[in-house]
Amino acid sequence: MATYHQIPDDEKGYELDLFCVPKHYEEDLDRVIIPHGLIMDRTERLARDIVRDMGGHHIVALCVLKGGYKFFSDLLDYIKALNQNCDKSVPLTVDFIRLKSYCNDQSTNSVKVIGGDELSTLTGKNVLIVEDIVETGRTMETLLSLLSECNPKMVKVVSLLVKRTPRGSGYRPDYMGFEVPDWFLVGYALDYNEYFRDLGHICILNEKEAMDRWMNHWMKH
Ligand code: IMP
Ligand code: MG
Repeated sequence: MATYHQIPDDEKGYELDLFCVPKHYEEDLDRVIIPHGLIMDRTERLARDIVRDMGGHHIVALCVLKGGYKFFSDLLDYIKALNQNCDKSVPLTVDFIRLKSYCNDQSTNSVKVIGGDELSTLTGKNVLIVEDIVETGRTMETLLSLLSECNPKMVKVVSLLVKRTPRGSGYRPDYMGFEVPDWFLVGYALDYNEYFRDLGHICILNEKEAMDRWMNHWMKH
């Protein structure tokens, strides 16, 4: 069973004013839920757990774009640091896949592969899928079934966040950073219509105003 930090439904998070957020998002955010430093500290530990379990084999780290790119890059930096500083090290290569399941703030039923490398290159490999957030679990279940057709040797999934939601399929990743309430979160590469990826902390939007503003912005540009 994966260990993780559970963020409760009554979590208040932190006042925005306590941290630095980009000026262009100040009006749209309500609270900081997971500060950047805490994301990094948890990621460092996930890297250690992954190397402990998968070390000794060559790992292909598969980044689920776009939301996974920050977590992917930071997680791999920590794995690299372990490789540089331990007697045992694990060769690491990278691969990317682009999937889309979200429209505005709603998860849709169809999960589409809209880019990335050929999955057939993963045949016989030890694959670590790196994802930002699991909500219904559909994206990950679709990707895992696509991947199984290519017969990888081993597949593990690490997701920074897992949402506690009645819409969930029951799917749980092998490694997870935090379990979060059924809120729409942005920042650290999690987006709302492509915005907020350039925000370091994981935050909650001040709902309606922010959504209207960035929805209009997106439609105009
Ligand atoms: P699932 O297929 O419902 O598990 O959805 C997973 C995908 O939806 C993730 O890879 C994200 O890209 C996106 N997603 C789910 N919840 C959020 C959120 O709170 N903020 C931003 N994106 C989200
Ligand atoms: Mg994603």
